[in-house]
Amino acid sequence: MYLTREEEEMYDGEEGPAVQKSMEILVALGDIYDAEKLVDITSAQISGVSYKTIGDAGLEFLEALSQDAQVRVPSTLNPAGVDLEFWKELGFSEEFTRKQLRIVNAYQKMGVTTTCTCTPYLVGNVPRFRDHIAWSESSAVCYANSVLGAKSNREGGPGALSAAICGKTAEYGYHLDENRLANFIIEVEADLIGADYGALGYIVGKIVGDGVPYFKLLNCTPSVNDLKYLGAALASSGAVALYHVEHSTPEYKDALKDVNLGNIENIIVNRSNIDEKRCELSTTNRKPDLICLGCPHVSLDEIKAISDKLVGLKLKNQLWVCTSISVKSTADRMGYTKIIEDAGGKIVCDTCMVVAPIEELGFKVIGVDSAKAANYIPTMCGLDVIFDDFEKLIQIY
Ligand code: F3S
Repeated sequence: MYLTREEEEMYDGEEGPAVQKSMEILVALGDIYDAEKLVDITSAQISGVSYKTIGDAGLEFLEALSQDAQVRVPSTLNPAGVDLEFWKELGFSEEFTRKQLRIVNAYQKMGVTTTCTCTPYLVGNVPRFRDHIAWSESSAVCYANSVLGAKSNREGGPGALSAAICGKTAEYGYHLDENRLANFIIEVEADLIGADYGALGYIVGKIVGDGVPYFKLLNCTPSVNDLKYLGAALASSGAVALYHVEHSTPEYKDALKDVNLGNIENIIVNRSNIDEKRCELSTTNRKPDLICLGCPHVSLDEIKAISDKLVGLKLKNQLWVCTSISVKSTADRMGYTKIIEDAGGKIVCDTCMVVAPIEELGFKVIGVDSAKAANYIPTMCGLDVIFDDFEKLIQIY
């Protein structure tokens, strides 16, 4: 792989051992994927944050690295394993939280902004169209590529951190325009609403794997929130990092240019396919004792919509609405948090239902409106899930 003079110096250790180790990782990745060179990035989003997923080995690695590493581009973190402020009220153990805080502190020492969220694009980590970036959370990568038109591969935690430390990544995969063309056309013959987008993403992700689907949504215009849930499901049932939606996403006009339509697979998804998938994603008929919303983390307008539905009500189930600390502080000011809390719910920050140890808190059935959460909770937490729209999950006194 071609390296500039400055990159060679970094590789040879002239900027210290952390930069040298990071360059070795980037060059190794570039060699594996046949990259010709490195490209400068404008931002990073780093996974490998929850103590539940990285354990003591990850914690020790990060603390050692933080002795001399500094990131060079704006960087944020994926969700951690607990709410970093209200962990005790939510029932998380002190032992887990102590180690979790050490992980976050190590990242902070390296200059990473410790906003722990999978929707960094809602809180200031917003790449421009065609920016090269190194993001690692799969739904965030899918959103950045598809909805913002930035360019990222699905980086692993070490790859994203190395890219942040060097300000560069290897130019392969979705950094190259030829890999951003569609190779499946999905014709959706149904009106979509709410959790339908997640069900659609789940169906299509399973079929296309790591392909690039081009959606023709015949009867609807998705909101950015709908696209967030569609991409999260595509990225979890398959390995989709980029999709296009006709008339909605920024690269759709180029996605089929120069493509031989005869070589493209056409898939039709209808109402009964979506209804079937909605049923299949639930693992039980029992009522949820905890409802978890915010996979990916909710936006302020989603919090408003939730609070609008809860005004004056009292919930029988517990409710967590997961988001970033930045979105929550605005929700506090707008009075949405108080309405949700008065109904018995909580806004939970910095974490997500999958990487938090919810299985230790006594819950048995989790209600979710996200196909990605429905996919992961049974395997990662060992709990049953009910997948449906929020209105159908809640029980009122
Ligand atoms: Fe985010 Fe966790 Fe879901 S990282 S996308 S809330 S699985």
